[in-house]
Amino acid sequence: MARTALVTGGSRGIGAAISQALKAQGCTVAATYAGNDEAAAKFTEETGIKTYKWNVGSYEESAAGIAKVEEDLGPIDIVVANAGITRDAPFHKMTPQQWQEVIDTNLTGVFNTVHPIWPGMRERKFGRVIVISSINGQKGQFAQVNYAATKAGDLGIVKSLAQEGARAGITANAICPGYIATEMVMAVPEKVRESIIGQIPAGRLGEPEEIARCVAFLASDDSGFINGSTISANGAQFFV
Ligand code: CAA
Repeated sequence: MARTALVTGGSRGIGAAISQALKAQGCTVAATYAGNDEAAAKFTEETGIKTYKWNVGSYEESAAGIAKVEEDLGPIDIVVANAGITRDAPFHKMTPQQWQEVIDTNLTGVFNTVHPIWPGMRERKFGRVIVISSINGQKGQFAQVNYAATKAGDLGIVKSLAQEGARAGITANAICPGYIATEMVMAVPEKVRESIIGQIPAGRLGEPEEIARCVAFLASDDSGFINGSTISANGAQFFV
């Protein structure tokens, strides 16, 4: 059955690979972005996937944006809360602003993205909620008190939503990517990045498509009994 999917942060990095994997699976996809108009326009041109601009940290913008997507493409069956940012700093240097920006996007952003879509999923008795957490939400990370807190919080959201949605045919699952070859990871100083790769038994960074394939699986109609779970895709860097 053709499904409609929303992917936040869906025009770059892991999100772009997710949007394309869901399209390849037959979904009609809307991808959101926060600021980079040029990258979004290029993405739409290359893939034919529609892009929408809003800040996931704002409930009002999210609700209005989601209403527009549903008007354009129909009710959203699959939501992938992928948008995320880093503001890395050792804790003694981390500012309240660095804390708040990451909380707003990575944690409150998941609430703002799923909450307006949830009532429709309950009514239609079908939904797939997939949240992109992180290995660093599982194990913590030097200079990421803010980021690790949000990514661990995302796992709590998923486990709670799974219990609330199960009877209504809605599943909620998380994926914890390890270090993936995206702009976010490439922004880590080279020496630090090399030392991190040294801690990955696979001996390499992951590819965005390797995360996208996990999402496509969880988003399918067939995965209805997988609910509240966390898939770790990290090249054996960390086990829960
Ligand atoms: N473990 C242990 N020590 C570390 C470290 C680590 N992972 N990273 C940095 N340090 C050390 C540095 O070597 C340095 O030590 P010295 O003082 O002895 O030289 C000290 O900690 C940092 O000192 P600075 O005061 O110079 O730090 P800074 O204010 O310049 O900040 C930093 C530098 C922001 C921490 C930078 O090192 C950095 O970006 N580190 C990487 C953090 C990281 O892994 N982020 C993950 C991003 S990818 C992602 O988040 C995606 C995902 O989901 C996996």
